[in-house]
Amino acid sequence: MSLSLQIDSARLASEIETLALISDAQPPAVTRVVFTPTDMRARAWLIGRCESAGLTIRQDAVGNVFARWQGSDPAASAIGTGSHIDAIPNAGRYDGVVGVLGGLEAIRALRRAALRPRHSIELLMFTSEEPTRFGIGCLGSRLLSGALSPEAARGLIDKDGESLEQVRLNAGLDQELESVRLPQGYYRAFVELHIEQGPVLDRERVPLGVVTRIAAPASARITIEGAGGHAGGVLMPDRHDALCAAAELVLAIEYAARSTGSVDTVATVGICEVFPGAVNSIPSRVRISVDARDTDLARRDGLLQAVETAAHQVSERRAVGITTEQLNADAPAECALAIVEALSAACRKHEQKFLPIISRAYHDTLFISRIAPAGMLFIPCRGGYSHRPDEYASVEDIGRGTLMLAETLASLSA
Ligand code: GLV
Ligand code: MN
Ligand code: MN
Repeated sequence: MSLSLQIDSARLASEIETLALISDAQPPAVTRVVFTPTDMRARAWLIGRCESAGLTIRQDAVGNVFARWQGSDPAASAIGTGSHIDAIPNAGRYDGVVGVLGGLEAIRALRRAALRPRHSIELLMFTSEEPTRFGIGCLGSRLLSGALSPEAARGLIDKDGESLEQVRLNAGLDQELESVRLPQGYYRAFVELHIEQGPVLDRERVPLGVVTRIAAPASARITIEGAGGHAGGVLMPDRHDALCAAAELVLAIEYAARSTGSVDTVATVGICEVFPGAVNSIPSRVRISVDARDTDLARRDGLLQAVETAAHQVSERRAVGITTEQLNADAPAECALAIVEALSAACRKHEQKFLPIISRAYHDTLFISRIAPAGMLFIPCRGGYSHRPDEYASVEDIGRGTLMLAETLASLSA
């Protein structure tokens, strides 16, 4: 039986707009950091939207939200879709949000079309896909998949000394973290809709990308301990300036990423904290972040090794202490063939052009793919811009992606 699926793009666009205004930044920027009062307001709003759509809500101990449309066979494994609504500082409004609100609209469209799914369809809003607060991304999906142990999660502390344990308890989430993990087989399939966050679809003028692989991310915190002192009194030959050492290291990291021989290797230093941070005081301690990624795991690990070597050399040359704390080093994920095929079939059915595409950003699907056949659908974002306020995806592209998602969920849930 052919479904008559209608996406209400106007309502979806207005929901994206509403959520964008629940933010700690001035529009068009969006900042929504996990478990802040703003994030809590956004969660409550989203749960309200899901309830209005007739979905049954469950929240787990880390705040992952599950909104379920019960299938006709309650014993059958579910079909999952969703993404995140937390946003890094000074972000745009589409990253993650398109997958959550698009997923919700896809479910509403299926209900309007009177689909009777055999498998339940479950919308997920994952907690803290962004690493902003606790230093590690995909917190919710790592715990769901067992990629992060509850014990390690209990050790997470933000920069103000607040623990994940405390902030989740403050949010009323008082079950044990051990209860978060999902068994293999809980999901029969998982599909995430997302903006590409890269330029390929926009440049090629192709409206859809079926993701085949997700690149391997890693991140570390590096602390450089030098010697502080008076900016006038300490002569240049006597200095062990932690920021000058950090500057050399930052450039060495860039060089290491540029010299692997592949454009698929990328590295970024996005945080640099200088202590004590006074104009007339030599920096005694600097902390930098490193984000390193590659489509190839061995090459990514080679990059991490090159960063270690550079840190050692800078430390020797400048007589400063350098310590590295590896926060994560994850393997890449292959999207499940069955999901790639289901997404491709939906695009073909609607006579939509699509490209197979690699995700260079990480996503919760990276971890859900460890416990379920999983895949992703990308839509273009203008210029490939993301993680900045001018991130933009057109209503038309969002509506089209949502329609393909709905079609795919229909076929997977039959
Ligand atoms: C996700 O936000 C990423 O950094 O890839
Ligand atoms: Mn992001
Ligand atoms: Mn995202």
